[in-house]
Amino acid sequence: MIDLNDTLGQVATAHPASTLVFLRHRLDFCCGGGQKLGEACRRIGLDPDAVVAEIAAEGSSSAPERWDTRPLPDLIDFILTRYHEPLRLDLPALLAAARRVERVHARKGSCPHGLASLLEQLDAEIRQHLAKEEQVLFPALRAGSGGASVHMPVRVIMQEHDDHGASLRRLRELATDFSPPPEACATWRALYAGLEKLESELMEHIHLENNVLFPRALNALD
Ligand SMILES: [Fe+2]
Ligand SMILES: [Fe+2]
Repeated sequence: MIDLNDTLGQVATAHPASTLVFLRHRLDFCCGGGQKLGEACRRIGLDPDAVVAEIAAEGSSSAPERWDTRPLPDLIDFILTRYHEPLRLDLPALLAAARRVERVHARKGSCPHGLASLLEQLDAEIRQHLAKEEQVLFPALRAGSGGASVHMPVRVIMQEHDDHGASLRRLRELATDFSPPPEACATWRALYAGLEKLESELMEHIHLENNVLFPRALNALD
């Protein structure tokens, strides 16, 4: 049963299919996962009950796996293979496409000027971030560290997630909500489709860390 006073992060954790609905309506369930469902819907003019009904309908089809009841090492393995590895491959490909689009279509009014440099910065930031998680935080969590001993590293990582969220918003703005203009070539269209996928995967990835992995680690005893 979904309560309108539950936070977006809680709903996304207990009802994983809700992330599809949240993405569809641009409800921020990762960095903004602390917002209450009812308030977050009303703020952007959505009927909360209709959103709950949509989640129920989505959940009855192909629901993604629920991770709050699985062992932490399994969740970490899933994050690494489902999100970290693809990110390292996808970002350079998107960056190359953005450079090409900006170069070839530089004179068009609809050209997304600045997209390549934003992706370059995001790529560098994300690589450093993934390395911190893989080399420091995740090994500590796998070894059973929790509670106060991981409070500081988790805070740093969550701050970086906020920065990634801000970069995603800028990305969406520069790429006109990922809707290519009529004159866009195939590369341009593929670039926007790839950026939209990057956005949804990064949001799901951050949600699993912020709202599932870290709360469980912070609530564990030292
Ligand atoms: Fe991660
Ligand atoms: Fe992360």
